[in-house]
Amino acid sequence: MVSTENSKQRTAISQKATKPQKLSEAVSKPLKRLQTGVEEMDRVLGGGIVPGSIVLLAGDPGIGKSTLLLQIASLFKSLYIAGEESTGQVRLRSDRLGILKEKKSRDNFYILAETDVDNVLQAAKENGFQILVVDSIQTMVTEDLDGVAGSVGQVRETAYRLTRLAKENTLAVFLVGHVTKEGAIAGPKVLEHMVDTVLYLQGEEGGHFRILSASKNRFGPVDEVGIFEMGEAGMQEVKNPSREFLADRISAPGSVVVPVMEGSRPILTEIQALVNPSNFGLPIRRSLGIELNRLQILVATLMKRAAVPLANQDVFVNVAGGLQLKERGADLGVCLAVASSAADKVISKSTVAVGEVGLLGEIRQPPALEKRLQEAKRLGFKNFITSQKVKTLREAVKLALDFKS
Ligand code: TYD
Ligand code: MG
Repeated sequence: MVSTENSKQRTAISQKATKPQKLSEAVSKPLKRLQTGVEEMDRVLGGGIVPGSIVLLAGDPGIGKSTLLLQIASLFKSLYIAGEESTGQVRLRSDRLGILKEKKSRDNFYILAETDVDNVLQAAKENGFQILVVDSIQTMVTEDLDGVAGSVGQVRETAYRLTRLAKENTLAVFLVGHVTKEGAIAGPKVLEHMVDTVLYLQGEEGGHFRILSASKNRFGPVDEVGIFEMGEAGMQEVKNPSREFLADRISAPGSVVVPVMEGSRPILTEIQALVNPSNFGLPIRRSLGIELNRLQILVATLMKRAAVPLANQDVFVNVAGGLQLKERGADLGVCLAVASSAADKVISKSTVAVGEVGLLGEIRQPPALEKRLQEAKRLGFKNFITSQKVKTLREAVKLALDFKS
């Protein structure tokens, strides 16, 4: 698919000398990051936007990628490439978001409706832009290739050219990439190895929280999350996620609060479980927000080590608020939520549970326990089920279900 004409193009774009140099003589320019002031964004990036870096922002259509990048770009001297919408549509949205209220934004925020990447490259080199937003990479094409916009070849080549642009002009480039339900053949997956940073914007179906996280980051951590709320005026930072995540909580069997670590930050979130008799032979296990494998192991452990009868029961688990829990500290919370639903007994509303659960049913202390408990205390929780209090899953289940609300 990549023609020789195309490889000629590549050399033309990179006119740098190719002579090896001594590593000891290579200069490392300290990168001064562009701080957005939007903490939820800066934290995920590792302290701000790195000039000369290329960031892919991936997510389902309609999740808020354009909105977020419009808001961020308006804070700098930026060029926004509208490949999907007309300039009028973007203007309308900007007015709704109120991002042109500042004179600085009115003077410094540029827009171009364009899908030919080579015209984009040209335009981005002028005016001394700090940020280029390409919305979206799936609309970009180069005439040097045959494929249609969104094909693997076009996505790869146009992204490659934009990467060169970023590096050679110390311009921060954001690419919007849609994730398609079918698994994104020409989407973010194709680009992951090419860009410096891959950010994902995710949210619960129908929910208003949006979670920003990095799955790859050459210039920062990958375990931090940024939490936003999609509201009337676009993406608002959620400064106190624990409180917001627990706002709609009711007292019912199958619910327990868990302090999880999202990077350096403890966040309280509710784990919900629903246990129902199975209608068919093989019981169903489904999870949202935790890995299904993990759930299956925990269900087996509950049956064997704590005698919770789940053999003929369907088990559903959900992490409220839309976080994707990757750490083991939530194990105990998942187990207790399931046990609570199975027994149809409420766990006291002032309880938090945290701990890793081993296959032998032992409870282990997770990292940063103190930090987690502090956050729980800050929000008024009083009962703590941790490895300091219980040694086994059996004890933990007994303790949790015996609490009086
Ligand atoms: P958008 O940023 O266009 O999503 P993406 O670029 O990821 O496809 O966001 C689209 C949705 O967000 C749309 O359903 C309307 C909603 N929205 C708000 O709720 N508030 C707002 O201020 C804006 C601009 C959009
Ligand atoms: Mg969009």
